[in-house]
Amino acid sequence: MTIANKADISGYVGPKGSGKSYLALMDSKKEKRLLRLEFAGDKAFEEGAVVCRSLLETLRALSKWKGRQKKQHICFHVPRGLDYAIIIETICKAIVSVGGGALLLDEAQKFLRPNQKLGEYTTMVLEEGRKVRVPLYWTTLLPKQISFYIRNQSDTLALFDAYGGLYEGFYREYVGKGKAGTVFIDKLHNAPKYSYIFHQSGEKPTLKIVKA
Ligand SMILES: Nc1ncnc2c1ncn2[C@@H]1O[C@H](COP(=O)(O)OP(=O)(O)OP(=O)(O)O)[C@@H](O)[C@H]1O
Ligand SMILES: [Mg+2]
Repeated sequence: MTIANKADISGYVGPKGSGKSYLALMDSKKEKRLLRLEFAGDKAFEEGAVVCRSLLETLRALSKWKGRQKKQHICFHVPRGLDYAIIIETICKAIVSVGGGALLLDEAQKFLRPNQKLGEYTTMVLEEGRKVRVPLYWTTLLPKQISFYIRNQSDTLALFDAYGGLYEGFYREYVGKGKAGTVFIDKLHNAPKYSYIFHQSGEKPTLKIVKA
């Protein structure tokens, strides 16, 4: 396995408990180097990873990626109440400077807000992820409160359980606003648990299910 040559951005959107973090973790597990960011108190991303509880500890662990060939995943439990724009910029800079590695951002609306001024390295990861070799996986339960930019830059989106105004309006952007869109969203609503709309830019959306 190599660090992704093809660095993509994948988003996972859905209400609480819909299974977005689970699928984001499953999809990103294939990465050779992966930094998983989740908030302190959450425990979804710890398994199989080196666990860090401060930015300093995380930066130290990341610095060891330089020249390292073996697979390693790091889980950073981001403390609450910090300036997350600075955290994400610092993290992006550190990953780029060790030659790349994937990033998994849980609850990404906290890191990348709609009108946030993005730092140099954060922009680099969003715009030139392939070049700097930083594939990005992100989740959110608040799709309208995340930077429009990251949504637009995403190559694939997994859209879980579409009901509730926020989701339906948002999902229609991807499945179409007319009758066909309504039918598609109805299909998701009636599908088994952990089903989602898989949207890939330039392709027709399809309905999929996450297998445990
Ligand atoms: N495909 C699946 N099969 C079995 N269990 C699953 C599957 N997907 C998710 N789960 C379980 O369902 C629960 C909720 O999933 P997950 O944490 O991914 O939801 P979420 O959308 O990220 O919710 P939250 O907004 O609360 O973080 C977890 O306990 C997870 O292990
Ligand atoms: Mg989650």
